[in-house]
Amino acid sequence: MDEPDGATPLDPDELAGLRHRHVTTRGQLDRLEQANIQEALAWLPRRRKGGVLTRDFVAALHRRMFGQVWRWAGSFRRSDKNTGVAHEQIEEQLRMLLGDVLYWVENGTFSPMEIAVRFHHRLVSIHPFPNGNGRHARIIADVLLTECFGLPGIDWAGGQGLQAMTGRRTQYITALRAADLGDYAPLLAFAGVPDAG
Ligand SMILES: Nc1ncnc2c1ncn2[C@@H]1O[C@H](COP(=O)(O)OP(=O)(O)O)[C@@H](O)[C@H]1O
Ligand SMILES: [Mg+2]
Repeated sequence: MDEPDGATPLDPDELAGLRHRHVTTRGQLDRLEQANIQEALAWLPRRRKGGVLTRDFVAALHRRMFGQVWRWAGSFRRSDKNTGVAHEQIEEQLRMLLGDVLYWVENGTFSPMEIAVRFHHRLVSIHPFPNGNGRHARIIADVLLTECFGLPGIDWAGGQGLQAMTGRRTQYITALRAADLGDYAPLLAFAGVPDAG
């Protein structure tokens, strides 16, 4: 299957976890995943609130988003990818990230938008799951903004759709690469923070 730039290809073990045997194209897979994500978005406001910055919520959200499509949804990677930390490091890196974000929230270290943007980038950099990391980390950043700060989520797609290879996606991947080097200004500008870029 063709992957957009900045996407992680699946290895054969991961592909074997596909619950739908008839899927042959990326378009079919995208639609199945999208329907599952819609259900997760409907579950979010109905569930018992709180605990966003916990390992359990990070995993539960991924399982809710992809559990009808992938058997391994909600489970962390067991192999290494081009992107992301060594798979043995995922638990520890995630624990440190969640601790950092909690500290930023409690101490107002950054603005709410900057906390959400930094959380998003660090989470996709860890790349905890075999697939779906980008979509999961965008939604969880929005959950943080809405539930912890009472703010609207980020307009990630900017009216274009981020999964496909659009100008908006190129801008997003470029901004993540700048953040990899410690420069958050492009990702903040992408997220719509005034005067960030
Ligand atoms: N240089 C990078 N640094 C950090 N994250 C990146 C980088 N390049 C891509 N990503 C993230 O990885 C995601 C792709 O990983 P993947 O697990 O396939 O997620 P999805 O299936 O939701 O697209 C991108 O959407 C982006 O969030
Ligand atoms: Mg992917």
